[in-house]
Amino acid sequence: QRIYIPCDTTALSLGADQLAEAVQQEIEQRGLDATIVRNGSRGMLWLEPLVEVETAHGRVGYGAVSAQQVPALFDAGLLDGNQQHESCIGLVEEHPYLKKQQRLTFARSGITDPVSIEDYIALDGFNGLKNAIAMQPQNIVDEVKTSGLRGRGGAAFPTGIKWQTVLDTPAEQKYIVCNADEGDSGTFADRLVMECDPFMLIEGMTIAGLAVHATQGYIYLRSEYPVAHKLLNEAIERAYKAGYLGENILGSGKHFDLEVRLGAGAYICGEETSLLDSLEGKRGLVRAKPPLPAIVGLFGQPTVVNNVLSFAAVPYILDKGGQSYADYGMGRSRGTLPLQLAGNVKQGGLVELAFGISLRELMEDFGGGTLTGKPLKAVQVGGPLGAYLPASQWDTLIDYEEFAAVGAVLGHGGVVMFDETVDMGQQARFSMEFCKVESCGKCTPCRIGSTRGVEVIDRIRNGENANANWVLLEDLCETMIDGSLCAMGGMTPFPVQSVMKYFPEELSATR
Ligand code: NAI
Ligand code: SF4
Repeated sequence: QRIYIPCDTTALSLGADQLAEAVQQEIEQRGLDATIVRNGSRGMLWLEPLVEVETAHGRVGYGAVSAQQVPALFDAGLLDGNQQHESCIGLVEEHPYLKKQQRLTFARSGITDPVSIEDYIALDGFNGLKNAIAMQPQNIVDEVKTSGLRGRGGAAFPTGIKWQTVLDTPAEQKYIVCNADEGDSGTFADRLVMECDPFMLIEGMTIAGLAVHATQGYIYLRSEYPVAHKLLNEAIERAYKAGYLGENILGSGKHFDLEVRLGAGAYICGEETSLLDSLEGKRGLVRAKPPLPAIVGLFGQPTVVNNVLSFAAVPYILDKGGQSYADYGMGRSRGTLPLQLAGNVKQGGLVELAFGISLRELMEDFGGGTLTGKPLKAVQVGGPLGAYLPASQWDTLIDYEEFAAVGAVLGHGGVVMFDETVDMGQQARFSMEFCKVESCGKCTPCRIGSTRGVEVIDRIRNGENANANWVLLEDLCETMIDGSLCAMGGMTPFPVQSVMKYFPEELSATR
């Protein structure tokens, strides 16, 4: 009989290792025939560590279990799947939080041991790669185009078109670079992919390599993710041993090598050109575009730079077909988006859904409202550069164009909720301050603008000449949007402007 205890960062930070030790001790003391499997996370983070016990009817879950509770849980019949116990959530797959999702990318997350190739293969793993090996590069790119997949890092540029540009650019050496510098506040989907299903990322990048004739891939991973680092390296080593990476993939004569490189903690290194500089061993500084990285990228060569979630969507597309992916979604937003519920939320976690659900349904039906139980006041979608949305905007549908129409961004799918106690003036100040700290310093509107922005907001909040400073802040926001070289300075005004529009009295009581 198998007992599953997750090994991802969230579960570990909540005592999963100590829990596993306590369960092992109990198995030995009671002479039971049971084995612990360290699985990934189901993404129901408020229930971590979530212990799952294999039974004849399926896996029965026990939420938020501590090491101290283990002896009592065994006494109460843990191995029989006792569903009367207070921490029992019943059959895990029947839990409404999971049952209502449409998991294409996260289909295996939490079910498998993340570094078991056998587990991966048993649940459709490497089927997409096997298909891709038999295809012409152009046909692989066409399949991705058919899927309608758009860059999941935030900019939503069509992935197939990006790949086409790299395929069409002749060069001796091309590269595949995965942006795993997940720096947006409230986001953790990339981490969950790498910690819970790393072979999926390896497979997606290898398919990209075959599609554009690139033989070398790099995963640029933020150093704050040590567990992902360890699991990715382990999975890469196993993929090499099993013939899924290297000079002769599955005996096909096709070649793809993959390595992980660690960042050093700068938010701006998540911007693709800065990331490339950092990968080349330089200080991460934004490059002017054009030339696009697809034409002049890593070491000056044509390079596919995609986010973890974009590559992670590709194995499904090459396995089930681009049309099968495109059958989900609405308008020009095809497929599914792994959303991440964070901040003041009762049921925080990963929710993968087809585009088209409303923000309100997401926060209420899945999030269950605020953790504090106080009324929800604002939500920030798309990281620190996304707008704060008040209740009047919560019926906006999760769709790139619908969000753009209300001056918001979906970004990387991070949804951070705030209850009525939040000081929105303080949040506006934080946006400028974040930019001041993280700016790479290359262009004036961002480097100087964010510093002046903090000062102007402070003056408004202190009631110093509030009307004149309000106009100054409006001008400054416009200058930063129009004059900044990259999204850091160009989008920082969005949250500030949203506070000015929706919560003006919280920024200035004296205006
Ligand atoms: P962008 O719109 O300049 O480019 C999007 C992507 O498409 C880039 O990879 C670009 O090289 C590529 N591209 C554009 N035209 C192309 C063409 N004709 N052929 C081939 N490739 C082409 O956006 P950018 O600056 O790369 O990203 C901004 C976004 O990043 C924002 O919308 C924001 O939501 C997101 N973001 C995400 C963060 C995260 O942690 N995931 C953090 C901060 C921002
Ligand atoms: Fe650097 Fe900011 Fe200019 Fe981007 S906008 S290039 S982060 S100074």
